[in-house]
Order: sequence, then C-alpha cells, then structure tokens
Amino acid sequence: MRIFAIETSCDETALAIVDCSGTSRTLPKFKIIASEVASQVKVHAPYGGVVPNLAKREHLKNLPVLYKRIFGEKLHEKNLWKTIDAVAVTVGPGLEPALWTGIVWAKQTARKWKKSLAGANHLEGHLYSFLLPEKTKRARPKNIFPAIGLIVSGGHTILLSLSSLLKRKKLGETRDDAVGEAFDKVARLLRLPYPGGPEIQKLAAQGKRDAIPFPRPMIDDKNCDFSFSGLKTSVLYYVRDHPKANLADVAASFEEAAVAVLVKKTMRAAETHKAKSIVLSGGVAANKHLREMLASEAKTRSIAFFVPDFEYNTDNAVMITVGAYVAHLRKKKYPLVANGNMNIPN
Ligand code: KG4
Ligand code: ZN
Repeated sequence: MRIFAIETSCDETALAIVDCSGTSRTLPKFKIIASEVASQVKVHAPYGGVVPNLAKREHLKNLPVLYKRIFGEKLHEKNLWKTIDAVAVTVGPGLEPALWTGIVWAKQTARKWKKSLAGANHLEGHLYSFLLPEKTKRARPKNIFPAIGLIVSGGHTILLSLSSLLKRKKLGETRDDAVGEAFDKVARLLRLPYPGGPEIQKLAAQGKRDAIPFPRPMIDDKNCDFSFSGLKTSVLYYVRDHPKANLADVAASFEEAAVAVLVKKTMRAAETHKAKSIVLSGGVAANKHLREMLASEAKTRSIAFFVPDFEYNTDNAVMITVGAYVAHLRKKKYPLVANGNMNIPN
C-alpha cells in the first residue's frame, strides 16, 4: 500500500510517500519513496516558541512548495498519483490552526485525485517509527514484544506497554511540562535560541554533569508519571542566584537530571512488564545522552533498544505514513477533524 502523508501539527511542514506492507504478525515493512520537511524554526525563533497563526501561514506557503518538489511537472504528477493508494493526514495532537491547514489541504488534494483520506495520530507516528528501515543497516527489529514505549517530544512524555503491534496500554505521562518543553524553557533561561533541545545538548557537552544537584522529580515514585516543571524552576532559581554560574555546567546538570528520571522510570517499567525491548521516539529521542543511557541500561539487562534514525525523531511525514498504516492494521479510524488534545488511546 503506497501512502502519501501530510504533517502540519506544529512547526514543521512535511510530506512523504512510503510503501507500506506486511501484517501485524510479520511486522510492517516500510520503503521511503519521498520525504520533504520544511522547518519553520527561523520564523518562530524570535518569539522563543511556536506562534500558532504564524505556523498556519507558513504551512500554507510551504505545502505547495514541498508538493512541487515531490510531484514535479504535470505528467510526472499524474503518473505518480496513479501509484498512490491512499492519503493520510495528521489530525492531532498539535496546534489546531496548524492541523486544520493540513486537513483542508489534504481533503482538496485527495478529492482532486479521487483517493481515500485517513486521519492519522501524530503520537502513533512517533511511537511506531522504530519500524522504519535504518541507514546503518541494522537487522530488522525482531523479538520486540512485550515492549516498553517512551514517547518524548515538545508536547508529550508518555510511557506505554506494548504487548503486540495491535495491543498497547498507556502506563503514565507527564503531569505538567513535557520533557522537550523543559529543554526549550531551560534553553531560554540560558539565552540559547529556539528550539532549545539541540542547543542544551551542545552546551552540556562542555560541562560537568555532576556540577549541580538539580532535583529528579518523581524518580522514586512507583508510578509511571513524570513532572518536569519543578526541575525547570530549580534551574531558574539557580541561574538567578548564581549570576556567574558556568552555563555549560548548568546545561549538563539539567540534562543529567532529566535523562536520569526518564531512564530510571523506563527501566523500572521494563522490569515490571518483563519487556524484551525498549522503543524510544519523539523529538527528544534525538538527544544523544538519553539514547546512550537507555541503550546501556537496556544492554546490562539483555533487553533490546530501538530508536529511529536521527532524521525521523523530530517531526516528519514518513512517521505519519507509519502511524496511518499501523492504525489501519489495528482497524482504527480517526475523524478528519483537528483534535489539538488528542492522546494515544489504548
Ligand atoms: O517531536 P517533535 O519534533 O515535536 C513535537 O511533537 O513536539 O519534538 C520537538 C522537541 C523540542 O522540544 C526540541 O527541543 C526537542 O524535541 N529536541 C531535543 C533534541 N532535539 C530536539 N531535545 C533534547 N535533545 C535534542 N538533541
Ligand atoms: Zn512530534
């Protein structure tokens, strides 16, 4: 099944065409035919975060540009459409004005080319992206289930147990800020540009992780919930009270605290659920320290660790074809209506 997908939930406009095959038993296979992402980082950077109406305007501007890059001139466009079986578009979660832009554009496009259109869940896209082929030619994941899934993005921090591709249960999530949001807010405190995650990572590489004992909220609680707003506030007070603080040490100690909580709670969930693997996803999955710590903790327990290639951690449309295909295997349909607060149903 060849799927054309549209992603406009936040500040990346993205289109992709992916060949999806396989069943839940054999595990789906994906072959990426085309993938285009236009980042709006520069537009939102002066505001220190994403401005919904600016995002909408940029999506409207970028969609035809990316479309032209993939579909080219009229003859190529027509021939390529002949090979496409279905269209999928992100319907949530995200910024509603941004989501609507993608949905309306997808409806027009699908109608014009007489294709079926399915709504896709952005979080399912992140979660199942570990199934994408790796450039490093790692063997296809097997012995995955039962697995523990950790989704870490700018809007979410969620732990799930996956007993198969079809069955999953949310174990817990953040009670306040998402971990990516904490990275972005701490970056702003340290006067680093938006988005803050990669900037914190860069600065942290020059600092000492044990320099400042920032709190590790909820690390010893037996539940699978998280809280990151107190950690961010501790950084705020520390910087305010230590005007001469070494900012690389602040970044490194903050990153250490955030990653320690994520790793400890994920490993505890893995033990409780006798997981054979950990699957990591979302923009913060691009964080090297988090990847390394999860990989090494998993290794000492003989658990597999799967994470998509770096380019598929932050938002893209390839992951939307993955989410849409898995939803199709799960026989789950999402209405074509923007749902900003959509979660990941069991
Ligand atoms: O998944 P994503 O692209 O968008 C959402 O669905 O939210 O995630 C974006 C988030 C931002 O908060 C960004 O700062 C964070 O991912 N991020 C990182 C890194 N790269 C992106 N956080 C920590 N380390 C990174 N290397
Ligand atoms: Zn995302």
